[in-house]
Amino acid sequence: MRVYLETFGCQMNELDSELVRGQLSALGYRFVETDADAQVVLYNTCSVRELAEQKALSRVGTVGVRKRAGEDLILGVLGCMAERDGVDLLRRHPQVDLLCGPSDLDRLPQLIDNVRRARAASQADEAPAAPRPRAVALAGNRSRRSSTLAAAEDGLESLDLSRAFDPSARETPWSAYVRITRGCNKFCTYCVVPHTRGAEVHRPPEHIVDECRRLADSGALEITLLGQTVNHYRYTHGTAVTVDGRAAPQVGPGLRAFREAPAPGTTSFADLLFRIHEAVPSVARLRFVTSYPRDFGADVLQVMRDCPRICRYLHAPAQSGSDAVLARMNRGYTVGEYEEFVARVFDHLPDATLAGDLIVGFPGETDADFEATCGLVRRLPFKNNFIFKYSPRPGTVAIDRFADDVPDEVKRWRNNALLAVQSETSARVHAAWVGRTVDVLFDGARAHAAAPARTAGAVAVRVGGREVDGPEGRAAGRWQAVGRTMGDLIVAADMADEAAANELRGSVRRVRVDASRPLLLAGKLVPGQ
Ligand code: SAH
Ligand code: SF4
Ligand code: F3S
Repeated sequence: MRVYLETFGCQMNELDSELVRGQLSALGYRFVETDADAQVVLYNTCSVRELAEQKALSRVGTVGVRKRAGEDLILGVLGCMAERDGVDLLRRHPQVDLLCGPSDLDRLPQLIDNVRRARAASQADEAPAAPRPRAVALAGNRSRRSSTLAAAEDGLESLDLSRAFDPSARETPWSAYVRITRGCNKFCTYCVVPHTRGAEVHRPPEHIVDECRRLADSGALEITLLGQTVNHYRYTHGTAVTVDGRAAPQVGPGLRAFREAPAPGTTSFADLLFRIHEAVPSVARLRFVTSYPRDFGADVLQVMRDCPRICRYLHAPAQSGSDAVLARMNRGYTVGEYEEFVARVFDHLPDATLAGDLIVGFPGETDADFEATCGLVRRLPFKNNFIFKYSPRPGTVAIDRFADDVPDEVKRWRNNALLAVQSETSARVHAAWVGRTVDVLFDGARAHAAAPARTAGAVAVRVGGREVDGPEGRAAGRWQAVGRTMGDLIVAADMADEAAANELRGSVRRVRVDASRPLLLAGKLVPGQ
């Protein structure tokens, strides 16, 4: 069977798609590049904002047109939108044959198989009036109720464990994601993730370290550890719960646990980072996302300082620069506490880079609240922030408790105004690197139209392999290799031609930075490496 799989949303979803691909490939399914050739079309969806859902739904609509025209396809909706919308989605989109939430992806082969068999049977019976077979696997509230035991029985762990370590299974063979925590317990009032991904569950450190080792053996130079609040990783040893004699995943300890130092016999996030760093000397870069600005202990900063291959990069979303808004968001910290956290980071790691996310137009956000967010972006050295307009999500506390009272044009205006402030901050952060020499992990190539300092700012550099721009630059034969520093700053280095630029993909080289733009450093390879 030929399968087309398209992914929307975050890195967690990208990893899920990689695991789904590995699992179905092992069963003989073949993956194709376009949906036109596919017999099974799968969309791994995101629900975090309405726009993310609309993108996936427009694909679902297109497949519906094909199915009504008589094409015999299986259409599956996977991921967070399947979980959030549930069977309502089946009612509104009858062309969808299967739904599979993020906590049930280990059951996907079974679901596809059920739909295939039932369809074959109903065709054999020649019973056109029979209802079309559909298959559904959703967690519903199950994962929220999960006890330690339920977490242990979590079939998802087997999906992570059965991962294919073949480098060609990864979009960029030199770079890999490793999940350390699933789900989230924070319940920020705007956010759908705790509802779609379920309760926070931590994977056993042995499983994680083993996975990192095997990825290193398969050529991974960069490993990114994933968790919604990655620094809340904590695993207690010596509990009786095992699965087939192996350690089992555990539900999170709750926020209160972070007021005290980890008890003896627990693996904290700092311990885990250190263990991985020591276990995989061939991995040049160990990084992690997303950091929760609270409970980010000095122990983690110390490990980052002591371990040269841990990236001094923090993606730690502030979300807002106003205490009143942060309280309504239930973020659990004040602006002052966020600033203290950032001060502590730079105290330990003067070379660190900081990035984050911000939401504009949260219910009740006044001009003064918004101005406070601009102030935060002016004061702190954010290399970049992803800026989002608040989008009310069904099932969240905010949609029930607060009217979405900031008009869309005001949200749009604030979004643009904040982007402009961020752009100034980004320019300052990047300019500070001019004249320095940095290690760059190259992963793309692009043609550029003129001298880098003139063109670079305007170009959407897509890191991850494929980005190339500008017919003008291609005609002139000007090429740059593109990659990232340890601190996730994008760097473009001038190269003789396209082949030379592509050849650097997947390698770490030194670059002397000689120019900067708000989102880019430009420079030249240090010769003789
Ligand atoms: N776990 C991460 C973020 C996961 S969602 C964290 O806590 O930081 C990624 C980002 O989407 C969030 O940081 C937030 O900025 C944004 N986001 C989440 N829900 C949103 C909503 N309803 N409207 C607009 N932006 C939202
Ligand atoms: Fe969502 Fe908050 Fe959890 Fe992040 S920490 S996933 S924003 S609920
Ligand atoms: Fe989206 Fe789910 Fe990730 S809602 S951001 S795909 S956790």
